[in-house]
Order: sequence, then C-alpha cells, then structure tokens
Amino acid sequence: MRTEVAVIGAGPAGLLLSHLLAEQGVESVVIETRTQEYVLSRIRAGILEHSTVDLLDSVGLGERLRREGQEHRGIHLQTPGERHHLDFVDLCGRSVWVYGQTEVTRDLVDAREAAGQQFFYGVTETALHDIETDSPYVTFVDADGTEQRVDAAVIAGCDGSFGPSRAAIPDSVRRTWERVYPYSWLGILADVAPSTDELIYAWHPDGFAMHSMRSDTVSRLYLQVPNGTDVADWSDDRVWAALSTRLGAGIDDWTLRSGPITEKSVLPMRSYVQTPMRHGRLFLAGDAAHIVPPTGAKGLNLAVADVALLAPALISLLRKNDDTLADAYSDSALRRVWRCTHFSWWMTTMLHRSGDPFDAQLQLSQLRWVASSTAGATGLAENYAGLPIGL
Ligand code: FAD
Ligand code: DHB
Repeated sequence: MRTEVAVIGAGPAGLLLSHLLAEQGVESVVIETRTQEYVLSRIRAGILEHSTVDLLDSVGLGERLRREGQEHRGIHLQTPGERHHLDFVDLCGRSVWVYGQTEVTRDLVDAREAAGQQFFYGVTETALHDIETDSPYVTFVDADGTEQRVDAAVIAGCDGSFGPSRAAIPDSVRRTWERVYPYSWLGILADVAPSTDELIYAWHPDGFAMHSMRSDTVSRLYLQVPNGTDVADWSDDRVWAALSTRLGAGIDDWTLRSGPITEKSVLPMRSYVQTPMRHGRLFLAGDAAHIVPPTGAKGLNLAVADVALLAPALISLLRKNDDTLADAYSDSALRRVWRCTHFSWWMTTMLHRSGDPFDAQLQLSQLRWVASSTAGATGLAENYAGLPIGL
C-alpha cells in the first residue's frame, strides 16, 4: 500500500495530524496498536489551552467543545488557610477550557471517519524502515494477522512514549534528557458535581491535591502519593478523606462533595525530551518526543502545538517541494517543548511535598509571591493559558 504520510499512533497527535493534512488534500494512513474502543475510552488530560481551542475551532472541530466544554477564567492556588483565585483573562487576556481528552479524541475520530480516513487498529509488530531515504516504509501485522507494508513519502511518529518511533532515530544522533520525580498521582473520576467553580491546586503538608472536573456532574481529582503506590491500598473512603483534608485545610465554609468513584489509577511522573524531533523522513510529535509531568496540564496541548507546526511543514514539503519548514520543525517545536518542560517542572516542584523542610519553606514563599504579586501571577497565567503557537 502507498500513501503520502504514514502516521503511527491514533492519539491526539496522530489523529489531528491526519485531519490537518487532509484539509489540504494530503493523504495519510493511521496505524494504531490499540482497538478503536480502547483509544476512545482512555481517561487522560482535561484542560485545553486557548491556542488549542482556537486551532480546533479553525478546522471545524470546535462545535461540541463550545457547546459542552466549560470556559474557565483561571485557577485557585491554595496553601492551608488561603485560597487565591488567579484570573488569567485579567492577567494575560486568555482563558482555558475544560474538555476531556476523551472528548477531543471522540471528535477527531468522528471527523476522520466521516472523511473516509484509512485506519489500521489493533496492529502488532510496528516497525519503521529506510527513514534516511526518500522512500521510508512501515511494516506491521494487522488485526487479521496479515503482514502489511505502507510505503510513504514521510513517517509521522505520533506513537506516544512506548511506541517504536523515537528509538528508530539512531543512537549516534539522538539525545535524551530525563527527570524522574519521587512521587506519583492517584487520580479519580467521580459521579458528583464539582465542589468548585474552577480548578483548585492545593499545597498541603500531607502532599499535593487537585480538584478538576469534566462537567457539571463529573469531578476529576488527584492526590500526591508515593511512587510504587498500589491503588488497592486506597479505598474510596480513604481517597475522599485525604482529598477532603488536603483541599479543605483551613478554608472556612467549604466542604468537598463526595460521590461514586468510576475510575481510579496511579500515574507516575517524569519529564523527558528527545532531540532532534526529526531525522531524515521521520518526524516525531507529541509524547513520542517528550513527556511532561501533568501538573501544568501541558501534555495534550504540547502534542497539539507540535502538530500545528508539523502539518504545514509536511504540506510544504510534499506539495511545493519546499523543505524550509520541515528543516526548521525540530528547532521550532523544541522552543515550546522546553518552555512547557520548564513550566511543568516548576509547577510540580512548587506544589508537591518532597519531604525536605527547607524545600517546603521555599515552596510556601514562592506560592505566596505568585498569589500576591501581579508579576508572579502573570508568569503563571501566561504559561498555563498557553503561549501563542510558534513561540
Ligand atoms: P498518546 O495519546 O499516547 O497516543 C499515542 C498512540 O500511539 C496511542 O494510541 C498508542 O496506543 C499508539 N501506539 C503506541 N505504540 C504503538 C505502536 N507500536 N504501533 C502503533 N501505534 C502505537 N496530560 C495532561 O495534561 N493532564 C493529565 O491529566 C494527563 N493524564 C495522563 C494520564 C496517563 C495515564 C497518560 C499516559 C498521560 C496523561 N497525560 C496527561 C498526558 C497526555 O494524555 C498526553 O500528553 C497526550 O495523550 C499526548 O498525545 P499523543 O498523541 O502524543 O500520545
Ligand atoms: C487535569 C489534569 C491536569 O494535569 C491538570 O493540571 C489539570 C486538570 C484534568 O485531568 O482535569
């Protein structure tokens, strides 16, 4: 089989890339190891930056988002006894939207299916070949057990942190940076109305806690837990008690509503960047090239920002035989990647207990400054609400 772009991975990066390419008449085949049901049911991120929403809007994917999503002006930043609202719209003129990654994925899958996009779901043994030539190809075994080969002009590695694309770049070329954090998140989804209008990020002596949401009837909450935590050790009652203690600490007239928990999982945290994001005819986008800890809500937004640069670069390369944008892709994308890597690291290390009392004093001082200084608050707001694409 022949196509113009072989896209490996049907996460947000791969699906959006195939959509943006198709808008300009560039053909692609999407190759995904999981089933479509699995891709559509994965519970992950929940906050969309301003520029992500603008991009989705501009390519006809904003209709349900505008109807069912919630626009938030900012977040609450909390230390025991003090809950400060940071108003991003006042501070930097940009808002964020609460709209689950599950919903973004659903909208993308629906749009791609309606347009007749070619997908292979449930594949195994995905392998990349001849990426240093002008005729790379991908091989895999399809869901029926048949060996397949897709020849392409370009391969887009959108296969997340466990896919084969990042390792297809030779060791002599690739460089990696990594930071593993000494804590994880225990996340829950619960059928209960949120107890807050906008997200709460809370520092607490027992560890970080966050209150997010998915709708007027579904809440999403997170707790800092030690690495290696077994979900089985956290009964629903224990989870609600810890959330209530950490989120309610010293806040008068506020209580956390609890309800049935429908999902519970532990998420380890790390920062990871691999450079370059392009080698020969292989281009990496999203988690395939970089991972951020979730505290700054950047993972999904960064995947979208990569693709917003990659799509025009590939269209120029394939339609006009102009490789200027393709050659610039890795350096351009990495500017934002490092900004978000820093911001996610900063939010994470400011809000999570390390166990060191000196760290705790620095964190509290930093949080007081961010909450009380317009300069401090604006820095957080600009990064959280998202810098313009291409910056
Ligand atoms: P992915 O969504 O990982 O998509 C990659 C796709 O490639 C997957 O569908 C995968 O099945 C497929 N694939 C893998 N291997 C192969 C192969 N060999 N062949 C073919 N296909 C393959 N970010 C936040 O901002 N907030 C959060 O709360 C948050 N929670 C998260 C929870 C979890 C458990 C994880 C893993 C991530 C979370 N993230 C969160 C990060 C965010 O979800 C990701 O940054 C985002 O999904 C990146 O999109 P992507 O398309 O680059 O990668
Ligand atoms: C959510 C996840 C995040 O990592 C974050 O910073 C904010 C919200 C969420 O899942 O809703």
